[in-house]
Amino acid sequence: MTRRLIGRSCAFALVALTLHAVVSIAADLPRVRLVATGGTISNRAGSRLTADELLLAVPSLSRYVRAEAEQFANVASSQVTLDQWLQLARHINDLYQKDPALSGIVVTSGTDTLEELAYFLDLTVRDVRPVVVVGSMRNPSTLGYEGAANLLEGFRVAAEPAARNKGVLVVLNDEINSAREVTKTDALRLHTFQSRGYGVLGVVDPDRVVFYRDVVKRHTAKSEFDLAGVTTLPRVDIILVYQGATSDLVKCAADAGAKGIVLAAAGAGATAPGQSEGIDYAASKGVFIVTTTRTGSGRIAADRAQPASMAAEDAPAAVLQRRQRNSSSIAGEDLTPLKARVLLMVALTKTQDPATIQRFFTEY
Ligand code: DGL
Repeated sequence: MTRRLIGRSCAFALVALTLHAVVSIAADLPRVRLVATGGTISNRAGSRLTADELLLAVPSLSRYVRAEAEQFANVASSQVTLDQWLQLARHINDLYQKDPALSGIVVTSGTDTLEELAYFLDLTVRDVRPVVVVGSMRNPSTLGYEGAANLLEGFRVAAEPAARNKGVLVVLNDEINSAREVTKTDALRLHTFQSRGYGVLGVVDPDRVVFYRDVVKRHTAKSEFDLAGVTTLPRVDIILVYQGATSDLVKCAADAGAKGIVLAAAGAGATAPGQSEGIDYAASKGVFIVTTTRTGSGRIAADRAQPASMAAEDAPAAVLQRRQRNSSSIAGEDLTPLKARVLLMVALTKTQDPATIQRFFTEY
């Protein structure tokens, strides 16, 4: 009888010890918070997955992190408004400010406009801790739904100390891309998110998260953009350059109240002859004109990058065109038209000085 009692107490002690070990290991895991906004990753037929249901879809999450979740929105990415962008950036800044023990934040988004939201957060969240944006191409009701895998990888990256100080990261399909560089390149394929010539920042492998390079442009904690006091983002439109394009769309944007126009120009910055009058009209109304390339990669150099002594006959036509326009002409550097629009909107909340805005385009 006594021996049986001793045996039982030993068993209890063992269970208690094991439980204690499990609880303390769990307590040591990084805390990562999901802020869900919707998108295909939650777009289950019938009813969308909630933030909590998203966590339940990834049972192995508890091996890596202590996960928590909140619902910010539950809509397609194209339905998220610019006011919600402001609210989301403020909310993430608040979460980090009030919770020094929080290790990382994962944001789910629809993939269609994910790259725009991600770059906005890259410019406006001011913390070294990771913000990882995750989505999926297949919805939860589809065979081969990859959302749960992407979410797990997003959480693993958000919990990874090496992911700090790298700006906002986009994680899908086992790859980590910089929010500044990544673009959705395919309407349907799983490998749609690409950083083109720059390549991935790192990968999420079964054994560990691996980074291969850093982000040298300014972002997050080194950003000078402060949303305190910003109630609305200024209107900035994108106008595509193509053969035979005319001036009316540019004029219309200016008349409709655009504070900036991003030209998705041909090649290294050429516009259609028919657009010149409209661009000059917009510039004369004080609208900032940012030239980017529609090619998908490459750089539009700031005029000051051209030797001042460069003879007119040696300067590229696009540079001459911009020199002739007033000082509100900005070179978009290597930003795609979509990213340049995001930067210009954010820039215009801070300054109206063209030289400062040009500096932003070289530094961010
Ligand atoms: N394609 C999805 C997006 O980018 C939309 C799907 C949905 O959530 O309704 O948001």
